[in-house]
Amino acid sequence: MQIDLFLTPVPLAKANLEHKTVAVVDVLRSATSICAALLSGARGIIPTDGPGEAGEMRMKIGSEMTVMAGERDGVRMDSFTFGNSPAEFTREGVEGKFVIMTTTNGTAIFDKVSKASRVFSCGLVNVSKVAERVAAEKLDVTIVCSGQEGSFSIEDTLCGGMLIHLLETAHRQRVTVNDAASLALLLYRTNKTALRQTIQQGEHGRFLTSIGFAGDVELAAAVDSIPIVPQLKEGRLVADEH
Ligand code: MLT
Repeated sequence: MQIDLFLTPVPLAKANLEHKTVAVVDVLRSATSICAALLSGARGIIPTDGPGEAGEMRMKIGSEMTVMAGERDGVRMDSFTFGNSPAEFTREGVEGKFVIMTTTNGTAIFDKVSKASRVFSCGLVNVSKVAERVAAEKLDVTIVCSGQEGSFSIEDTLCGGMLIHLLETAHRQRVTVNDAASLALLLYRTNKTALRQTIQQGEHGRFLTSIGFAGDVELAAAVDSIPIVPQLKEGRLVADEH
């Protein structure tokens, strides 16, 4: 199995994703919120690239069937019901509804990878389940780290490294990797006993803590706490039934 990891979405512009499995990683926080919303019974998450597209989607599906979620600069946008804190997505708020979501880095990636054979959303909260599902596909893999506005982010790289580690160990895959994947694996293996602290001390962890979202960082660092695999199907992330 060939595994290519992209430290940011930039290389996607030239990537051929046909016949590949893609994992889109955004530990802080969209992948964590997507899993939390599905756990609370959301019918699906519709990732969009901005508030304009989110609004159009709401008009199309209907306001009674949808709720709007998203952030810019970490905080909920005006007129949106939810921001991007995983704890906001309660059963009361989202059960039976589509969550139309737009976040700074994570949500716009899904449209760019939609030609892949399978696309999954991955955070630390569901990394073992995603590894199991990716291994079952038996295809080459592309791991796209969302990063932060075009820059590398430590939490996504750690999570990507853990995903590769699980594929190699728990799922006994023989892997060949690109250099960024080697780096992610090394980062994970040297930090695996201190994941939470490493994430808290990272740039985005510190930023979220400074604006009052330390609890979100804590939730996002809880490995395998939400064993759900969100899979992209016709533009919607739904809980995989595999
Ligand atoms: C993103 O997609 O940029 C993140 O989820 C940002 C955040 O809300 O922490």
